[in-house]
Amino acid sequence: MGVYVPNKILTNNDLEKIVDTSDAWIRARTGIVERRVVEGDTATSDLAVLAAKAALEDGGVHIDEVDLILVTTSTPDMIFPSTACLVQKKLNSRGAAAFDMQAACTGFIYGMTVASQFIETGMYKTVLLIGADAFTKHINWKDRGTSVIFGDGAGAFVLREADKGYGLLSSYLAADGSGADLLKIPAGGSYHPGSEESVREGLHFVYMNGSEVFKFAVRIFPEAVQRALDKAGLTVDDIDYLVPHQANIRIINSGIERLGINKDKVVINLDRYGNTSTASIPLALYDLYKTGSLKRGDVLVFVGFGAGLTWGANVIRWY
Ligand code: COA
Repeated sequence: MGVYVPNKILTNNDLEKIVDTSDAWIRARTGIVERRVVEGDTATSDLAVLAAKAALEDGGVHIDEVDLILVTTSTPDMIFPSTACLVQKKLNSRGAAAFDMQAACTGFIYGMTVASQFIETGMYKTVLLIGADAFTKHINWKDRGTSVIFGDGAGAFVLREADKGYGLLSSYLAADGSGADLLKIPAGGSYHPGSEESVREGLHFVYMNGSEVFKFAVRIFPEAVQRALDKAGLTVDDIDYLVPHQANIRIINSGIERLGINKDKVVINLDRYGNTSTASIPLALYDLYKTGSLKRGDVLVFVGFGAGLTWGANVIRWY
């Protein structure tokens, strides 16, 4: 696996200078201290490529061995072509299949599930799964409900068949489109294509009903973990590490309290990166991976939630 975050750090104190907020409020209400932000014309594909290169190097896999490049993102470089095709071009890969998937902050959980199907069916041997987002490109910095939360980053896995009983054991995926209006970028698609009016009204920015998204996340977090564990025939006690989507420390604390999971088993790095959307789970996992803490046989649970509304969980036995 591999990850990439931009070099530029935006602290809560920096935000205090551009929007009506405070370091104390952001820490207390979200747990975030700083986040990474892209600069200039850096796009999502640039983050994705650097994470992908790191993952390929880590696995000792050459790009020509990759059968499918699957990018999960909700901040693609452009509507089309897919970011996966732009990544393919930058990696000098030819012939591999390439496409994007969009499940917002649940993207990596959906992506892991879809990528593994191609391997399980025998259609592909090697899948490059990349979760990359550059949300700060779509933030209205004067909107304190969103500007304090999001950051940019990317994470990637090179996936191959594992020994029986290892790898992805189960997935639980869910969605409720009736919550579509709670978190969205309204303009730039076929409903509100870019226009003078859409720009004037700020419809290209992320809009979020924070308190409703918060209530939804708190409700589905424990349920998603439990359902994925049930499908794998495991219990909460079997979890070695829980890797939750890094949106808000209060959502994570509520979820683990209701599940009865000890905080020592929960990976948290949102203080350093904020909510990096689809990249947040691989970025958090990488903290464990690079310190050599993961052992073969460890049971990991990923849990995520986000726009759509979408949510889900993966149970993985580390290989
Ligand atoms: N700085 C200072 N004050 C802020 C603020 C900020 N950045 N954002 C909101 N406030 C104020 C509000 O104006 C309100 O003030 P009031 O009581 O005087 O009216 C007060 O803080 C509480 O506002 P509220 O919106 O209820 O805050 P909250 O505790 O729900 O926190 C979020 C706001 C956005 C941090 C929180 O709702 C959240 O994390 N939601 C989920 C977001 C999420 O997970 N999104 C991604 C899904 S993938």
